[in-house]
Amino acid sequence: MQTADIRQRWLDFFAQRGHTIVPSASLVSDDPTLMFTVAGMVPFVPYLTGLVPAPYPRATSVQKCIRTNDIDEVGKTPRHGTFFQMNGNFSFGDYFKEQAIAYAWELLTTSEADGGYGFDERDLWVTIYEDDDDAFRYWKQVAGLPDERIQRLGKDTNYWSTGQPGPAGPCSEIFFDRGPAYGADGGPATDDDRYVEIWNLVFMQYQRGEGTGKGDFDILGELPKKNIDTGMGLERVAFLKQGVENMYEIDQVRPVLDRAAALSGRRYGADHDDDVRMRIVADHVRSSLMLIADGVNVSNEGRGYILRRLLRRTVRAMRLLGVDTATLPELLPASRDAMKAAYPEVATDFDRISRIAYAEEDTFLRTLASGTNILDLAVADTKKKGAAELPGDTAFLLHDTFGFPIDLTLEMAEEAGLQVNRTEFDRLMADQRSRAKADAKNKKTAIADLSVYSAFRASGETVFTGYDVLETETSVLGILVDGASVTRASTGDIAEIILAETSLYAESGGQEADAGTIVGTGFELEVLDVQRPVKGLTSHRVSVRAGEVGVGDAARTVVDADWRRGATQAHSGTHIVHAALRQILGPEAHQSGSYNKAGYLRLDFSWNQGLSAETRSEIEDLSNQAIRDDLEVTTRVLPLDEAKALGAMALFGEKYGDEVRVVDIGGPWSRELCAGTHVRHSSEIGLINLVSESSIGSTSRRVESLVGRDAFRDLATERAIVSQLTSSLKTPREQLPDRIAELMANLKAAEKKIADFESRQLAQRIPELVSGARRVGAVTLVSAAVGSLRSSDELRSLVTGVRERLGSDAAVVALAADVSGKPAVIVGTNAAGRETGARAGVLARAAAAVLGGGGGGKDDLAQGGGSDVAAIPAALESISTSLS
Ligand code: ALA
Repeated sequence: MQTADIRQRWLDFFAQRGHTIVPSASLVSDDPTLMFTVAGMVPFVPYLTGLVPAPYPRATSVQKCIRTNDIDEVGKTPRHGTFFQMNGNFSFGDYFKEQAIAYAWELLTTSEADGGYGFDERDLWVTIYEDDDDAFRYWKQVAGLPDERIQRLGKDTNYWSTGQPGPAGPCSEIFFDRGPAYGADGGPATDDDRYVEIWNLVFMQYQRGEGTGKGDFDILGELPKKNIDTGMGLERVAFLKQGVENMYEIDQVRPVLDRAAALSGRRYGADHDDDVRMRIVADHVRSSLMLIADGVNVSNEGRGYILRRLLRRTVRAMRLLGVDTATLPELLPASRDAMKAAYPEVATDFDRISRIAYAEEDTFLRTLASGTNILDLAVADTKKKGAAELPGDTAFLLHDTFGFPIDLTLEMAEEAGLQVNRTEFDRLMADQRSRAKADAKNKKTAIADLSVYSAFRASGETVFTGYDVLETETSVLGILVDGASVTRASTGDIAEIILAETSLYAESGGQEADAGTIVGTGFELEVLDVQRPVKGLTSHRVSVRAGEVGVGDAARTVVDADWRRGATQAHSGTHIVHAALRQILGPEAHQSGSYNKAGYLRLDFSWNQGLSAETRSEIEDLSNQAIRDDLEVTTRVLPLDEAKALGAMALFGEKYGDEVRVVDIGGPWSRELCAGTHVRHSSEIGLINLVSESSIGSTSRRVESLVGRDAFRDLATERAIVSQLTSSLKTPREQLPDRIAELMANLKAAEKKIADFESRQLAQRIPELVSGARRVGAVTLVSAAVGSLRSSDELRSLVTGVRERLGSDAAVVALAADVSGKPAVIVGTNAAGRETGARAGVLARAAAAVLGGGGGGKDDLAQGGGSDVAAIPAALESISTSLS
């Protein structure tokens, strides 16, 4: 049974039983406490907790998920994938335990011919939470399972939550027995390779609190309703139904594994370690494909870091398979072809996806090359010293700076016949981890408790009137101070105000919240921020400027008209610049983020090289052309499918409801899904002045622009600067660049003349220094304080000059100077001098210690510094003492 078939049977089964089919949400979860969507229930959390009323009593989905906490297990067990799909059925206060068990049993055991999965009842086992007698009874009634095939287990395995405070409940898991060839008898309680968990039924009825490990959390209370959340592992069922050994061999994954085997010239199944590597490649390539498709870009933190890690682990696994050239151009298309039937966007957006992936592979291959140089040097050094172990700090440096996983270092050291000092490496890693932990603790912000908003949200959505008017008469529904609901707030208080209607725009879609006031009889509130803490509910953070406001008071929201005008110009400007970018660069230049506020806009887009000055002005010209053309701006609300059919651009990471707002500028010239505020005609924007273009990572660029009055003022400032220059340089405007280039060239020539002069003067001091040479111990020593110099380079050239003059007899030169108020000493030795045992590095360090600082360098030339200029004679003295 193909994976697509298993998926379809699932959706059909639950749709026929009254469940609404909900499409998979993005892998990028919009739950602020989760980095990724880790389970099918994640998009439904607001309904499960009762924060937002569920729009349907039952739902079903096949949800894309990413989990990376078990990344080290990938490839080693049959069932750990970083990307996987979870089939779920959900009840929001509708059916509960008995019905959930009955549905699961029916679907699993109904024959394939009748639309089920056709599992043999004798192969199925279940576990339940230890004191869940109801579950025990239902399993007996519904499935007729014998007592010994229903095992009772503790909170660590049979109590489910996302690992964070939130909905939780006891669960019951269904397992498939692969037979005695795969492990010991005794059911899921004894062996999780032989007994593979395929489906988890969570009887979700509690709210859990903080806690670290599994099962180690308190139950804070009951959820408003009893819910059902289930998750069946699509890949797991696929591997069992396809008669293969593990999830990496199913139809959606195997093609990548085969490609990796072919590229390495090794056979899958011939060697255990190689097999694990091929499975890692197959898994990680697919996860990367799906993550980039959902808008994740490579970076050094958060989601982007996980993506980077997956791509780098792929490169590393391929390298351990003996391939050290770029392989993603072969592997990624194989994954695309296996996934496109279920997720067409991986094919239609493949240009962009592959550009990001290939760029990261190239970057990492280059990093590996530099790291390999470091490793080679360290290997040579270790061998020279006759040691057998590479120092732990080299391994740590390679890990920390060059992204070398330790097993790669081990493997490469081993090829050179060396071990690695693991104890030291582990200690450095542990230190780093505790630093990172302390850091994370400091940064961790409290997770907002949203429950106080739910009562307000339950009585309806906040109506936004601000598309049409700037002022709205309304009433105060609620006041919050420090997160608690209160009845009044007075002068000086900072409070959150919930209103029935508002003309103030809440920050969203990249547009800043409106500035403005809320006024009423006897009070005036200054608006500091406007947000939507839960979907559909607007909260205004205000400072009470005068008077007292109470729940139930009549109030008027007043948007600062000047501010709004600027914000509106900027938001429409963003759409125009985006359209212009795509016209000029091509459709791959896709917006990945934006921000706009009064007078200013910023737009991030996927593109992997800098824009030339010509391209920049082409984009600016085209944008301003659109402004002069006075294009009409229209908005309409449509079902999502219709909007997409019209070609409206939807952005990554944005969640859209069933109905969306389409903003057109000049008809289809620019067509985007957007809830922001816009001008009515493009000419109202006035002017777009592109002030910067920069890189924000290897595959994204950022353009920034001023609009309207700010754009004009910026140009006026530039004009003032130009006019100042024309008058002070007495040069007409057009000739300024040439004139400045000429002045720069003159300056450079003059500086060179001065430098030549100074170095001749410096050289003239050499004979005098040489004449001060004296015999100390086995060497001729020149040691002197040379006064003040401009740089230590000058001091160094004096030392090498003197050393040269001293010829080939054993010699040491130690000169000290005051360089910008700090003492510096440089020591040089010649070959014969070093043979007597004189080491410049050692001597410089000793002298620096006297100067109150540190130093070092090679045996032939080394430098030291410090803080105490007065100690120079003593420092030089210490050198001659140690030579005598
Ligand atoms: N949410 C449950 C799980 O992920 C079904 O296992």
